[in-house]
Amino acid sequence: MSHTSGGGERREHLYKILVIGELGTGKTSIIKRYVHQFFSQHYRATIGVDFALKVLNWDANTIIRLQLWDIAGQERFGNMTRVYYKEAVGAFIVFDVSRVATFDAVVKWKTDLDTKVQLPDGSPIPCILLANKCDQQKEGIVNSPAKMDEYCREKGFAGWFETSAKENINIEEAARSLVNKILLNDKLLQSNDKDGEKFALEHKIANGENSRESSSGKSCAC
Ligand code: GTP
Ligand code: MG
Repeated sequence: MSHTSGGGERREHLYKILVIGELGTGKTSIIKRYVHQFFSQHYRATIGVDFALKVLNWDANTIIRLQLWDIAGQERFGNMTRVYYKEAVGAFIVFDVSRVATFDAVVKWKTDLDTKVQLPDGSPIPCILLANKCDQQKEGIVNSPAKMDEYCREKGFAGWFETSAKENINIEEAARSLVNKILLNDKLLQSNDKDGEKFALEHKIANGENSRESSSGKSCAC
C-alpha cells in the first residue's frame, strides 16, 4: 500500500509493513520500542493482529508513514495470514537468538510470506531478518555473521540485523534499511507506470490539487 501526494516537491508515502515470526521472539517489543520508546519484560501474547503507526520525517520534502502489522506468532502460517499480508510492501521476520527453534522456523515464515503476497509487478516484497534479543546468549549460526550473510542471500532476504528491543540496538537501522528498499521499489514501479497515469498526476499537480484523500480513506492511483 503506497500513497504519494502531489503538490510541489512535498511527498507523503504510506507503507504497510508486516512483522512476523515465532511466538515470543519479540515482535511486539520491537514495535513498542520503535514507536513508543518503551520496553517491558512482561510477556503478553498478541492475539490475531495489532497495529502501530510510525511517522518518519524522511527528508525535508518527504514524510513516510509506516503502518506496522504486528502479527501474533500463534497465527503460524494459518489461513488468516493471507488476509493480513495483503498489500504489504515490506516485512520483518523475527527470531530469538537464544532459541534456535525460532530460527529453524524462519524459512517457513519466509515461504508463507512469498506465496501469499507479492509486489504489483509479481516480485517478492523486501524482507529483513531480525536476530532479536542479542543482549542474550546466542545459539546456532547467528554466532557466525558470514554464515548469516550466506543464509540471507540463499533465502532471498534483503538483509539481517542483530537487534535488541530491551537495549534498543539496531531497530532504527533495520527500519531505515527496509524503507530504503521500499522506496527503491516504489521508484521502479512508478517509472514503469503507464503514460496515462503520469499525465493524471502531472495534471493534478498543475491544478494545485492537494491530494489529501488519504485522510478520508480513499486511495489514489498516483
Ligand atoms: P507473540 O505476540 O506471542 O507472537 O510474541 P512476540 O513476538 O510479540 O513477543 P513479545 O514482544 O511479546 O516478547 C516476548 C518476551 O520476550 C517478552 O517477555 C519480552 O520482554 C521479551 N523480549 C522481547 N525483546 C527482547 C529483547 O530484545 N531482549 C530480551 N532480553 N528480552 C526481550
Ligand atoms: Mg506479540
